Amino acid sequence: MATQRLWNSLSAQGMLHNKLRNLVQFTQKRHRVKTKWAATQPKLSATNLALQNFDAIYSMELGELWPSVRVSLLSERKYGALVNNFSCADTVTDLQSLGCVDFIASSSTGADQHTVNEGTCRDLTIASISPNVKCLVFPKGDISRFKPATLDSSGFLRYYLMDAASVLPVLALNVQKEESVLDLCAAPGGKTLALFQTQAARFIWANDLSGSRMSRLQRTLNSCLPHDLLSEDKLYITSFDGREWHELGENAFDKVLVDVPCTTDRHSLVEEDNNIFSRSRTKEKRNLPLCQTQLLLAGLQAVRKGGEVVYSTCTLSQLQNQCVVEQAVSLANQELGITAEIIDLQPFTTLFKDTFHFAPDLNVGVMVLPHLVANFGPIYFCKLRRLS
Ligand SMILES: C[S@@+](CC[C@H](N)C(=O)[O-])C[C@H]1O[C@@H](n2cnc3c(N)ncnc32)[C@H](O)[C@@H]1O
Repeated sequence: MATQRLWNSLSAQGMLHNKLRNLVQFTQKRHRVKTKWAATQPKLSATNLALQNFDAIYSMELGELWPSVRVSLLSERKYGALVNNFSCADTVTDLQSLGCVDFIASSSTGADQHTVNEGTCRDLTIASISPNVKCLVFPKGDISRFKPATLDSSGFLRYYLMDAASVLPVLALNVQKEESVLDLCAAPGGKTLALFQTQAARFIWANDLSGSRMSRLQRTLNSCLPHDLLSEDKLYITSFDGREWHELGENAFDKVLVDVPCTTDRHSLVEEDNNIFSRSRTKEKRNLPLCQTQLLLAGLQAVRKGGEVVYSTCTLSQLQNQCVVEQAVSLANQELGITAEIIDLQPFTTLFKDTFHFAPDLNVGVMVLPHLVANFGPIYFCKLRRLS
């Protein structure tokens, strides 16, 4: 009681701080313990540093959603099976017999029956969702795992396992017949493969700075696509710095996918190897928003007037998502004389709301939030149209 009274009275008089300071000053030097941070503090692992960073930032950015997203990020992720249309096996039927559903086909069918926003949903279904891309998932709440993909009788992989939400940026790009497509940061190649599944592009140009990751992309495409699609006039593979793309040519493509390097939130929480939060990569991590902005600017330069760009990441970070898009649109206008408008993807979220949990109220772009019953994402994407 006496301590409580003293505490109250010191606080009330605003004296607590001074008293504590005096106490410290009167402590004799030889009794003081100097903390040797460098030597005594245990070094935090990169995964722990990532969690600390996310707790500090996402609890502010996502507010009351963060605890649920946090536990989902730390739990086993869910995959989707991107069906390889170039395989002769009846993969869809086989996966359906296990209880899987094609989330693209089932959303499109559902949208046809919608009465609210009927016009928007139907337009989107017909015009924007490639009927050829098939991605099967186990329904909400079902945490069954896919078996590793096998080869069909012709030696092609029957499906490719990836985060089902990663297919959304490809669907949002909405590749139409005979369009030219640049995949600026393509490796290891999941989205390039999904772009091929649209069976629409005149050619796809897959680029990535990392030569070794491009070898992985090449292997994936070799195991899924017939030789004629791997030929020179259908697929171009390069390993340039995407930020310098304007040196190769501008206004050249109908569609550009800019799937940038980011803090890869899910990976950073579970994998020590190659973790962007390791101390040796601090500078690289700090430079990410700049690099992302430069890549998006390069994408806006590479696309023709009237063409479209999709920017995507697998982080929840506003600094790497909305801020980068806003910054790039403004810089493109001021420095390059390029105007770009942001396309409303809200109908898109309506279409796929039964499969994914989308972040509410995003002003720029859309984001799939990890959720325990649909543990996909995080995936952020934003679609832009170049006007001039
Ligand atoms: C998120 S990953 C891309 C994933 C890929 N789109 C997929 O779906 O499999 C980002 C990629 O950007 C590449 N990258 C990093 N900096 C780059 C740059 N300046 N130019 C081009 N690619 C870059 C990385 O090597 C990495 O493969």
